[in-house]
Amino acid sequence: MNKNISELNKRLVDISRLGSVIGLLDWDREVMMPKKASEHRAKSMSLLGGIVHEKFVNINTDGLLTTLKKEYESGKLNEKESAIFTNIWRSFEKEKKLPEDFIKEIMEAASLSQDAWAKARQKKSFKLFLPHLEKMVTLRKKEAELLGYEKTPYDALLDNYEPLMKSEDTTQVLEDLKNFLIPFIQKIKSSRIKVNDKILEGEFPMEKQIAFNTMIAGKLGFDFEAGRLDVSTHPFTQGDHAHDVRITTRYKDNDLFYSLGSTIHETGHAIYGQGLLPEHYGTPIGEPISCGIHESQSRMWENNIGKSKEFAQFILVSLKKEFPKVFSKVSVDELYKAINKVEPLYIRTEADEVTYNLHIILRYEIEKDLIEGKIKVKDLPQIWNKKFKEYFGLKVPNDAMGILQDVHWSFGGMGYFPTYTLGNLYAAQFYHTMSKKLPNIKKDIAKGNFKPIKKWLNANIHAKGKLYSAEALVKKVTGEKLDAKYFIEYLKDKYQEIYSL
Ligand code: CO
Repeated sequence: MNKNISELNKRLVDISRLGSVIGLLDWDREVMMPKKASEHRAKSMSLLGGIVHEKFVNINTDGLLTTLKKEYESGKLNEKESAIFTNIWRSFEKEKKLPEDFIKEIMEAASLSQDAWAKARQKKSFKLFLPHLEKMVTLRKKEAELLGYEKTPYDALLDNYEPLMKSEDTTQVLEDLKNFLIPFIQKIKSSRIKVNDKILEGEFPMEKQIAFNTMIAGKLGFDFEAGRLDVSTHPFTQGDHAHDVRITTRYKDNDLFYSLGSTIHETGHAIYGQGLLPEHYGTPIGEPISCGIHESQSRMWENNIGKSKEFAQFILVSLKKEFPKVFSKVSVDELYKAINKVEPLYIRTEADEVTYNLHIILRYEIEKDLIEGKIKVKDLPQIWNKKFKEYFGLKVPNDAMGILQDVHWSFGGMGYFPTYTLGNLYAAQFYHTMSKKLPNIKKDIAKGNFKPIKKWLNANIHAKGKLYSAEALVKKVTGEKLDAKYFIEYLKDKYQEIYSL
């Protein structure tokens, strides 16, 4: 290996080990930490964060990156070395453009804004949140100016979550999807088929749910010797080393699928994390590509696999055994339909896989207009409610169920939302290819044999790290660039049958 790349990798691994410690503190904060430790923890994390930032900015003090840049430009680096260099060079250039005072200002404003958002949501009053959101929008616009962009400031922010993606392309696929979804949801709403999801209700003691979720996560391929499953308010996956990836879920006594759905989702994220190659830990070759690609892995397990008829067939056997009171008389077909009920609701996180993406498209359109200065923050509730009526046919009853429902804008996370839908689109396209490569996939799922799927995802996606951009990976794996048609076809096939459209 190129000796400058080896030196760079060594420095990156040190920085990443510190990053992993911050990640662990963060996991602990959400899962274990006593309430009173909050301020103390925040200070420890911010101190460590500062050290990581400083170490990264100093990576080129002796000109290591500059030398590598010359080697890269004169073609002396191989494919992997080039990927390592270009990824780090990009992050380094970005980081240099943001003055330390500005980063501090954003972090402090975001922290106050998140508190204000939580209170405003509780009081169902957008007014309480308004000045904070205005501040966050102003700061993110400034960030976009500092980072630079070609066509729209939104691109600079989108790049934080989906590197190299341009909103022109995002808009294209989301428009295609929107044009399909609005009439499709109308058709489902007026179908004579009424899906009964009451059959899923019953009594599910938490201990039994934990055991069940653990069993399912293990079956799917989560390695419990390299990870854990715990409880937190909002489910998440933490861990950037294949040997320590932790997931969480949350529980409701009367609803097993509430915890199970999110466990399967997080297991998908975790299988990606555990599939990164430990020998490349700390370097771009050992890192996930983007938020959208990460979400494609969780959504594929949660929906394409976890809500298929074959999966219903597989899981019903265990459900009947573990929860006979609830499931003894339920058929595969009834279970399959119940877990795939489509119903427009106000809250994004409760949405089914069909209506979910309309929630995202609505947010994408609004946040892009905000950053481009086409709309004003003070008008957001009206804009939201008007769009919501148009897309979902529902009148929003209050701000908590509308504009205030998500945390993302409170910390200025504009650019994040589209990665959720990109994840669904990537997932459908990958799944389409995988099904062709694994002709027995349906039989395997029905039998609870998920090894071939995990193996395929490991080899084709996880082990590559950031060797390719998201766009290049999709082309490499599926032979085509990202196209909404795979997801649209998937929805059509599935829901035309369920709702006899
Ligand atoms: Co996710």
